[in-house]
Amino acid sequence: METTARLAGLEAGGGCAAKYAAGRLEELLAGFAPAAPENLLVGLSPADDAAVYRLDDERALIFTTDFFPPMVDDPALFGAVAAVNALNDVFAMGGKPLLALSIAAFPEELPIGDVRAVFDAASAKVTEAGAVLAGGHTIRDDEPKYGLAVIGMAHPEGIWRKSTAQAGDALYLTKPLGTGLVLTGVRKRVLREEELQSAAALMTDLNDRAADALRPFEPNAVTDVTGFGLVGHAHEMAQRSGVRIVLEGAALPALPGALTVARRGLRTGGDLRNREFVAGAAALDGLPSELDVLAFDPQTAGGLLVSLPAAKTAVFEAAFSSGGLFLARIGSVEAGTGVGFA
Ligand code: CO
Ligand code: CO
Repeated sequence: METTARLAGLEAGGGCAAKYAAGRLEELLAGFAPAAPENLLVGLSPADDAAVYRLDDERALIFTTDFFPPMVDDPALFGAVAAVNALNDVFAMGGKPLLALSIAAFPEELPIGDVRAVFDAASAKVTEAGAVLAGGHTIRDDEPKYGLAVIGMAHPEGIWRKSTAQAGDALYLTKPLGTGLVLTGVRKRVLREEELQSAAALMTDLNDRAADALRPFEPNAVTDVTGFGLVGHAHEMAQRSGVRIVLEGAALPALPGALTVARRGLRTGGDLRNREFVAGAAALDGLPSELDVLAFDPQTAGGLLVSLPAAKTAVFEAAFSSGGLFLARIGSVEAGTGVGFA
């Protein structure tokens, strides 16, 4: 008998792949519009990475929550990834996290040391993000789940939305793609420990430094790439901004091992849901199949997707390069609708 319950089990449905299908979410929220006071700068119409509430001329509160089942068996890694994923929605809005609460569900038979490891690792990431883990709520559940509710702060004029991309912008991504594929590959023993380590490093990397480097450039639109995959989040940005996004297939950056897994024909459960979400709005003709799979792969704690005026690209790229920060120019924004590939 195993003394330690396997945290992630054998399903490939953990992490952001556990997100409710984007299409079902749209259906659920259609017509659901509670009366919004004028101080609600970002609510549900349109929804964004977090809600934003204006306190006064200088300060706006950013409020978000994210939680999901484990995508890895190591409790400390799970806790760190879940915390980073939740904190990153504050960075995706242009803000800085202040305060976090745990949202936790664990089976009673899970050793207390494992649960403690989840909380310790999450707390360390909250501290690294400049915030405080001040409490939370834990319930019993057969399937473990962990995440945070996070409050952050930003200047009301400095909020980054996903609904304000402009034709003529250049499109950037601040982390490579493929966490869903790599985790699936490790679980199916197609990949080794090295590839898991590079995916783990990506998923535990806060988007704070990328956001700090981006802030002076006043981007037109920003979101982070998570469970809906690159195409799903690009589709949201295109639709809400009333523009067309053209991705350059050859420019899509991949984690080590991700394309190997894609070529083997392995997929996560989120892949199909993400395709259904954008059905009809994304034309992928001519894209090599492994890049197509990469573009739909659900990401856990992925990078920022940035829409920046084209005139700023040279200085922007130089700033990321001199800061030693990852940056890939992956496409452009045009007049029109939908997501296409060049
Ligand atoms: Co987000
Ligand atoms: Co979120």
